[in-house]
Amino acid sequence: MRELLARAARMASRGHGGAEPNPMVGCVIADHDGRVIADGYHRRCGGPHAEVDALTAAGARARGAIALVTLEPCNHHGRTGPCSEALADAGVAEVIYAVGDPNPLAKGGAERLRERGIRAFHVPHAAADELALPFLKRVRTGLPWISAKWAQSIDGAVALANGDSQWLSGARSRRMVHRERGRVDAILTGIGTVLEDDPRLTARDVRVVRTPRRIVFDPDARTPLDANVLQTPTDGAQNPAAHTATILVDLSSSTDTAFLRRVEALTARGATIVPLGRGGAIEPALRALAREGVATVLVESGGGLVGRLLREKLLDEAWVFVAPLLVADDVARRSARGLAPEVLAEIPRARLLSVRRRGADALLHYRWASALTTPTSS
Ligand SMILES: NC(=O)c1ccc[n+]([C@@H]2O[C@H](COP(=O)([O-])OP(=O)(O)OC[C@H]3O[C@@H](n4cnc5c(N)ncnc54)[C@H](OP(=O)(O)O)[C@@H]3O)[C@@H](O)[C@H]2O)c1
Repeated sequence: MRELLARAARMASRGHGGAEPNPMVGCVIADHDGRVIADGYHRRCGGPHAEVDALTAAGARARGAIALVTLEPCNHHGRTGPCSEALADAGVAEVIYAVGDPNPLAKGGAERLRERGIRAFHVPHAAADELALPFLKRVRTGLPWISAKWAQSIDGAVALANGDSQWLSGARSRRMVHRERGRVDAILTGIGTVLEDDPRLTARDVRVVRTPRRIVFDPDARTPLDANVLQTPTDGAQNPAAHTATILVDLSSSTDTAFLRRVEALTARGATIVPLGRGGAIEPALRALAREGVATVLVESGGGLVGRLLREKLLDEAWVFVAPLLVADDVARRSARGLAPEVLAEIPRARLLSVRRRGADALLHYRWASALTTPTSS
């Protein structure tokens, strides 16, 4: 059973970039001896759900079988019909799901299956829990899933004291970042990085599943009008919101005429201005972006923005590429700054999810417990 749920979770993760803002969901249809009959996943938002994908592949062999799904089958008539009914109509005998659906619009699938005489069990599974987190967070908090990535030296420097940071990590690591850029709704950077590196923040030389919005945390509206991030990407973005940058500005300092002129010039240059909250808080801006469909954000910034996200407890995970070099400079730029904690025991610890090798670099994947703690069980 566990192995089949793990397989369903692997299937689900193939939907990353296509499924969001829907959850990534995988489904395995197996016989009572645990032999796989068919599997499927939710490939793209608006397309068939994982259950329907797997049922289509199984055809008549689904009758009397077990369906294992990473998320409770939905019970609502959205863009596709309810999966609870599709499973029942196909004649499956039993449904096992790993995570209860917290979405008030879609929940109740297990109950509906039972009403139709099908055994439905909740069997928690860690990999399915991990996959559901971005969706659960958005449903419960209205915030997007925030992943940061940075490359650092063994001693934690992300740039030299003079700002030079290209390239700390190797080509394999950078390619992986471009692939991820092509699967998220938005890339968020800070004004420090725009001024220092002038990044384009586009996904290049990889298959682009979705074109990310490019967002700059820039409280004082200092993004130069000729910055690369304000250029329309040459790859013909399918996403109109990605044609130019979104700038997060602290409009509470709006009496300063020079500042207002900069905001006006950025708007004239095509930028979308989204206000930060009081005191430059990032959370309200992220909430507004989530309402516009931004479900996943990749942060590619220096330590200033990472520190601010940490302070607001907004960071969900980090992908840290550790390059095999020591910078050995007291004033080199760090991966996070601005907090100056005094009690070690009070610093929230991340969970280390994986350690991998990417060419000469080590890739560490960390996750923080954010507003949501554990996925629902029902
Ligand atoms: N290795 C990597 O993966 C990687 C990735 C991205 C960037 N970087 C490096 O990170 C460095 C930039 O980091 P960062 O912490 O300065 O910035 P950041 O996190 O990209 O941007 C946000 C911060 O910019 C700061 N800032 C810097 N200059 C500013 C200005 N003229 N006006 C307003 N705010 C300004 C602000 O910090 P204060 O409020 O504290 O002033 C703000 O918190 C660059 O050297 C870049 O090469 C490395």
